[in-house]
Amino acid sequence: MKIFNEKFSILLLMMPIIAFCDSHRTYDGYKVYEVTLGTQNDVNFLKSLTEVDDDDSFDFWSLQSTVGSVSTVMVKPDRQNWFEKSLANRNIQYRVSIMDLENVINEERQYQLKMKSIHWGRSMNSDEMRFDRYYEHDEINKYLDSLASSHKNVEVKVIGKSYEGRDIKVIKITNGDGIEKKNSIFIDAGIHAREWIAPATALYVVQQLLNDESMAKILNILDIVVNPVVNPDGYQYTHKKERLWRKTRSKNIPGCVGTDGNRNFDFHWGEVGASPIPCMETYRGNKAFSEKETQALRDAVGEIKDTCKFYLTLHSYGNYMLYPWGYTSKLPDTWKDLDDIAQIGASAIKNATGTTYTVGSSTNVLYAAAGGSDDYMFAVFNVPISITMELPGGGQNGFDMPASKIDETVHESSIGIFAMIQAVGQKYN
Ligand code: ARG
Ligand code: ZN
Repeated sequence: MKIFNEKFSILLLMMPIIAFCDSHRTYDGYKVYEVTLGTQNDVNFLKSLTEVDDDDSFDFWSLQSTVGSVSTVMVKPDRQNWFEKSLANRNIQYRVSIMDLENVINEERQYQLKMKSIHWGRSMNSDEMRFDRYYEHDEINKYLDSLASSHKNVEVKVIGKSYEGRDIKVIKITNGDGIEKKNSIFIDAGIHAREWIAPATALYVVQQLLNDESMAKILNILDIVVNPVVNPDGYQYTHKKERLWRKTRSKNIPGCVGTDGNRNFDFHWGEVGASPIPCMETYRGNKAFSEKETQALRDAVGEIKDTCKFYLTLHSYGNYMLYPWGYTSKLPDTWKDLDDIAQIGASAIKNATGTTYTVGSSTNVLYAAAGGSDDYMFAVFNVPISITMELPGGGQNGFDMPASKIDETVHESSIGIFAMIQAVGQKYN
C-alpha cells in the first residue's frame, strides 16, 4: 500500500509537467453545433459544406440525411459567424452543444492521465484489461500477446506494418480442437482513428470470448479473428497530438497528411462521397489500396475468405447497423439476409438496455460513400454478411465517450455483437 501511495503521488506531481511538455494541437475556440434539418433544402445545404475545399472549417461528426434529424458539426472559429448567419438566413434551427472544444478535450486528457497513473500504481498485469480508460496501441499489442501466451486456443499474428512502422496485429480465437475448415468471422475496429470506443469494444468482445464459459457454443462452430486497431498511426496520433484525427498518417502531395481508410478499398473506388482532395477528411487516397493499413486488412480477411461468413467493422458514432451498399442506393439481391442479422443485433440491444439503433443500407440511412471496407468484403470476397456498426457516441463530444462510461457501453454493444455472431453461426452451420 505504501508503494502504491508513493508511486501514485509522484505521478500526480509529474502530471502538470507531462501536460506541459507534450505538444497537443489545440481546439481553442472551436464550437460544435447541433443542427436540426427541417427540409430537404436544409439537408442539401449542410451536405454542400462537406465539399468545402479546405482542411478543417467544417468537420461533420454525424451527418444525417433525413428531414427532421439532428446533425452535429464542428466549426473552426473564423467560420462560426458565417455559419451561424447562413443557418439563420435559411431559418435552420441549431444549438451550440460545445462552446469551447478545447476544454472538453483537455478534461478527457486529464482523466486519461489520472486513470493511467492509478493502473501503474496498481502494477497491472499485461493480460489484464480494464475498461475504465482508453489504452494506447503498444499496450493493446502487449495485451494481445499476453493472451496468446496464457491461452492455448489463441493465436496472435502480425498482418502488416503501418505507414509509420507499427505492428498491425490480429488475434484468432478458436475452441482449440484444431479443425481447420470451420466457418469464421472477422471483426475490426479503429480504421478511423478518433473513434476510440471501437477498439475498446473489439477488445471487450475478445475478453468475453475468452472468459465467459457460455461462449463455448459459439466457438464450437466458428473461429473468430479480431483486428482491434486497423489504423495504429492515426490512433496514436489521436492520443498524443490531435484528438479528432480520423485518417491514416501517410504523407500526400501537396503537404496534407492521411487517407480515409474507409474510402480506400477497391470497389467502386472514388465514385461518391470520397474526396479527391488530399487535405479533406474523406480523402480516398491517390489510388485504391494506397494505404498499408487497408492492404493489411484486405489480405487478412482475404486469407479466410472461403470460410468467412460475417465481416463486422466497428465505428462510432450514431447507433447504426449498416449494410451494403455504401456506393449506391440500390440494394444487393441478398439484402434480406443482411437485414435479418442487423435487426437481430439491434433488437438484442433494444431489449437489453432500451438503446435504439437504426438499421438499413449505408446509402439509404446514412449517406453514400464508396470505397468502404464493408462493400469490398461483401462484393469481392463474397462474405455473405457484412455490417458496419456505428457504436454510441458519448460525452459532449461524441467521440470521447467519457472513460467512466466505457464499461457500460462496450457491454451493451457486445450484447448486439454476440447476438449477430450467434445468428450467423446458426444460419451457415
Ligand atoms: N461512418 C462510416 C464512414 O463514413 C460509414 C461507412 C458505411 N459504409 C460505407 N461503405 N459507406 O466511413
Ligand atoms: Zn468511422
